[in-house]
Amino acid sequence: MAETGSLELERLGRIESEALEALAAVDSTTALEAWKVAHLGRKSSPLASALDSLGTLPKEQRPAFGKRGNEVKRALEAAFDARAEALRQAELERELTAGAFDVTQPGRPVVRGGLHPARRMLREIFAVCAEMGFQVYRSRDVESDEYNFQLLNIPPHHPARDMWSTFYIQGDERAAEGTLVLRTHTSPGQVRAMREMAPNPIRIIVPGMVYRYEQVSARKEIQFHQVEGLAVGRNIRMTDLNGTLVEFTRRIFGAERPYRLRCSHFPFTEPSVEMDIECAVCHGAGCSICGSGWLEILGAGMVHPTVLRNGGYDPNTFSGFAWGMGPERIAMLKYGITDIRDFWANDLRFLEQF
Ligand code: DAH
Repeated sequence: MAETGSLELERLGRIESEALEALAAVDSTTALEAWKVAHLGRKSSPLASALDSLGTLPKEQRPAFGKRGNEVKRALEAAFDARAEALRQAELERELTAGAFDVTQPGRPVVRGGLHPARRMLREIFAVCAEMGFQVYRSRDVESDEYNFQLLNIPPHHPARDMWSTFYIQGDERAAEGTLVLRTHTSPGQVRAMREMAPNPIRIIVPGMVYRYEQVSARKEIQFHQVEGLAVGRNIRMTDLNGTLVEFTRRIFGAERPYRLRCSHFPFTEPSVEMDIECAVCHGAGCSICGSGWLEILGAGMVHPTVLRNGGYDPNTFSGFAWGMGPERIAMLKYGITDIRDFWANDLRFLEQF
């Protein structure tokens, strides 16, 4: 019986050496595939038929035969992989010596996207404001006349509305919200935030697009971003506003850049100021871009008592400051951009500079 056993094992050994011999003669990928079918194929290869006959062997011989069979199978598979790799290398070398391609040639550059300059500027502003404790609050682009104007202390037909050329939406007059507009500024977000958070203290910024019915020019667009700032709490003073704005400009423009705060007027703040930064082009001398040597970057002030009340805060207990800044304006000053229309013109020659 032991004799038959060793005969069977020899048969496996023969299958292995014949297969390896045939493999040594394989010199193309087509021939290699054919070899695989012939010697590792599950149906008709000698190895497969030998393994199929396992069941016909005496029980005690089966383990040794099975073990050897698997060894042969793994050896043939490994030999196949090695041969395939060798053929690949040979092919590569042939191409190299034939000069079919040049491995020293630099690769094709990857076209990388980048952040839009407006988004970049916004992120920079977010980072600075976040460090000062301001959270981002999102408010809507389509506003009611009530929030965009009335709750900000600008009654219907008041001449102060002339400060904003407004896109009115021909809405249903009977709509619960009354007349709808595209927000002309981010200030309505102040009242929405206050009504949501009263009587808790607030420190937020409200970023977003605002819309104005304007003649488009190098300095004016019909849409642009604003970042509103709002702090409400007890004992908030004008000096807090001043400190916040000065620190903000130092971080965005550097400590050396001259700035100034001027008295101004807004219906929703009292007192009100505007902040200017020295023009980067003429350095204060006055030029065609700035006129006076200064460029306005934001309006600000102490939140008007009426607005606090509209937001649900008692002005006898609470006070606050607010600002509204234009990030595109700031980016123009920072990067020396002279035409605001470049922001939304979608011209890659402009956008790729950032
Ligand atoms: N909303 C004003 C504008 O669009 C800017 C502004 C001024 C916002 C003063 C404020 C503020 O919060 O206090 O012109």
